[in-house]
Amino acid sequence: MTVIEVEDLHKSYGHTRAVGGVSFEVARGETFGVLGHNGAGKTTTVECLIGLRKPDSGRIRVFGEDPGRRRRALARRTGVQLQESELPDRIRVVEAMRLFASFYDRPDDWRAVLERWDLGPIGGKAYADLSGGQKQRLKLALALVGAPELVVLDELTTGLDPVARRETWTLIGDLKASGTTVVLVSHFMDEAEELCDRVAVFRRGRIVALGSPRGLVAETGTGSLEEAYLELTGERRDGVEA
Ligand SMILES: Nc1ncnc2c1ncn2[C@@H]1O[C@H](COP(=O)(O)OP(=O)(O)O)[C@@H](O)[C@H]1O
Ligand SMILES: [Mg+2]
Repeated sequence: MTVIEVEDLHKSYGHTRAVGGVSFEVARGETFGVLGHNGAGKTTTVECLIGLRKPDSGRIRVFGEDPGRRRRALARRTGVQLQESELPDRIRVVEAMRLFASFYDRPDDWRAVLERWDLGPIGGKAYADLSGGQKQRLKLALALVGAPELVVLDELTTGLDPVARRETWTLIGDLKASGTTVVLVSHFMDEAEELCDRVAVFRRGRIVALGSPRGLVAETGTGSLEEAYLELTGERRDGVEA
């Protein structure tokens, strides 16, 4: 079954074309990577998917519904970790977990989720007093506490130390095993290679390659997704762009 359909999505901010004709589908249970460097249009695309932004044109369906019209209904089935989202400074970790769990019909036990993410000992802390890594882990825990069918994670492990990064990968592996559909936005190719069933490589608002990490590696005759990515985007020739 198809969970996400995106057809010819376009979105500009004034004169800046963020997304210029993107199409892809994500099947139930798939972990789908949205890859590319800063400014490639990844965040804009996922914000359109969850109904936070209105596309200029194109067709989007999530669970068969238009997120522009059915955002609230879809939000109950979706967990989201947004790149730029912040919580109120004074909200405590346990309060945030309880609040987010209340948005869903059948949430996980939020205390168990806190323990799984190693946030139990700081449950009484205010958001503003958390370290960068703790904030990131809390945002992930909040995206998962509702036991959603679809999880959208924008820059999953940015700000995490190498150990926390590895632990996060393990938890995403568990999510996959449970049949959850995951959209993983990342500019880390090792992460995508480890976790994703298929990836879409974004460059300047377009998808320049789409396939399994292994398939893209084979197609380019390279040894890793990182090298395949450089080939496919032309960034090896042009030099890395911002
Ligand atoms: N709210 C906004 N207003 C104006 N320009 C934006 C806004 N959000 C993103 N952009 C621009 O759109 C382009 C794509 O950005 P974004 O979707 O955030 O890409 P990515 O997530 O791949 O870094 C960039 O040029 C960015 O500067
Ligand atoms: Mg982004």
